[in-house]
Amino acid sequence: MLPSQRSKFSLPKTGVYLNCAYMAPLLKKVERAGMAGILQKRNPMAVTPAMFFEDSEKLRAEYARLLNVSSPKRVVIIPSVSYGLASVARNVQLHKGDEVVVAAEQFPSNVYTWMDLTDRASARLKIVRPPDELAQRGRRWNERILDSINRHTRLVALGHVHWADGTRFDLAAIRKRTRDVGALMIIDGTQSVGALPFDMKAFDPDALVCAGYKWLMGPYSIGLAYYGPYFDDGKPVEENWINRLYSEDFTGLVNYQPAYQPGALRYEVGEHSNFVLVPMMLEALRQVNQWNPSRIQEYTDKISREALAMLRAAGCWIEEEYRGNHLFGVRLPREISLGKVKEALQKKKISVSIRGDSIRVAPHLYNTAAEMKMLAQTILTAP
Ligand SMILES: Cc1ncc(COP(=O)(O)O)c(C=O)c1O
Repeated sequence: MLPSQRSKFSLPKTGVYLNCAYMAPLLKKVERAGMAGILQKRNPMAVTPAMFFEDSEKLRAEYARLLNVSSPKRVVIIPSVSYGLASVARNVQLHKGDEVVVAAEQFPSNVYTWMDLTDRASARLKIVRPPDELAQRGRRWNERILDSINRHTRLVALGHVHWADGTRFDLAAIRKRTRDVGALMIIDGTQSVGALPFDMKAFDPDALVCAGYKWLMGPYSIGLAYYGPYFDDGKPVEENWINRLYSEDFTGLVNYQPAYQPGALRYEVGEHSNFVLVPMMLEALRQVNQWNPSRIQEYTDKISREALAMLRAAGCWIEEEYRGNHLFGVRLPREISLGKVKEALQKKKISVSIRGDSIRVAPHLYNTAAEMKMLAQTILTAP
């Protein structure tokens, strides 16, 4: 098992940060890359045309390595999940009676996009709720999703795990079902990719969109998206010069070019060669690849076991089978008040998030078993 990686971060000595699902803390080497990027602008003469392309290419290749994608040109830099999904929506033609399937209480960027698309076509947004009872909740929620996909379904948009309570969706089974009915599968990987292995060969999504500032350990306002062959001849949401063929030749830019760069590069955001954020994101992904998501799962499992046993023994409910180890919801028994727990956590400076009726816990390699136990004790002894 990996040892604690806390020394690679500058987290404060006081407080317990169990909230990577909110925002990853800054790795020291990512901070240095960002500073170098800022300082580079002191001297524009040192910024060559080739530099508009070099780091972006390295970043795409590093992300392709994480996902085991053979063509890095299917990977593009995006500023946000909503942007990456807007490119999907731009290329999906819905008709009256068509259906788009999402899970209940999904992250808003992955809901508003489909509300708008379905509204404009008088199509239906099908929101699949989890069962009310907790027994077998993850398994039964997955079954409901599979049952909701039928010959009217044009698109299924989900996370690999639910952002609020970590419920894991069985993407291999959902992929199979979407293929049977000819629907697209679009995945928001923001709360999983980087910490939970994503099996690209088994899931084979039509698009995978991911913000960079959580489990990819990057800065805010940069993310990455993968677009599969369905999108090869599609239209981007904007027409930026750098996404056109031969944009590397700065002297010929006004020989206006009808063709786009290869693969999915037409979907990349304008000014993607961000000289601060791209080197930061690249450094972050190098570290994530070095750690490897499977080892993050192993580590977060190990440090959580005792704490979870304590919580379960006291009547708390935590999903057993359908979740990862890096993000899970704790639901309290009736006798423990969520409000009181919230206060106690704040007092002890333990950072987690309350999402709906569950306490969202999101550990990473900088956390320890002692911190997880402190969380459990604080929950169980809240006044
Ligand atoms: C699942 C998920 N998707 C996306 C985002 C961020 O969306 P956007 O990049 O559109 O702001 C978050 C932020 O919490 C999230 O949890």
